[in-house]
Amino acid sequence: MAIHTILKMGDARLLRSAQAVTAFDTLALHELVRDMQETMDHVNGAGLAAPQIGVDWQVVIFGSGQVNPRYPDAPPIPKTVLVNPTWSALDAQESEDWEGCLSVPGLRGVVPRWQRIRYQGWDVQGNVIDRVAEGFHARVVQHECDHLIGTLYPMRVRDFSRFGYTDVLFPGISAVEDD
Ligand code: NI
Repeated sequence: MAIHTILKMGDARLLRSAQAVTAFDTLALHELVRDMQETMDHVNGAGLAAPQIGVDWQVVIFGSGQVNPRYPDAPPIPKTVLVNPTWSALDAQESEDWEGCLSVPGLRGVVPRWQRIRYQGWDVQGNVIDRVAEGFHARVVQHECDHLIGTLYPMRVRDFSRFGYTDVLFPGISAVEDD
């Protein structure tokens, strides 16, 4: 088990399209997921993608099953490991909300996302995951899957008047974590 350094925006490894995982239930995959979980828990993240710790695999984790102190108003999301994920919007409705990213510390921005999605993938053992999600849950999945195609949330910000430093935008949140 190890807490890894989270790569920050500007690192070219965050801009790659990640490779599909080709074998499930392997020692390497279990170790990766354990390290990602420990790293995410250490910083109270809502999600983490393998490229953020420099691993070029299509693996994301998100959720905790309880309220996240960095997002106190968001409903809990089931604790999930998703390998080789895909998703699609269920309709054309977008929603806007604030996002942060562990690879973009200290900043938040308003990002448009699809409100309702279906996402699919596999867990570490290779069991199929197939869910419908909406709101913050759908947002987190879209954000994490973006990491697997080299996209960070600032690339999706449309209105830069709603992009800035967390401690300026939300004085209360900065006391919890520096993103
Ligand atoms: Ni992120």
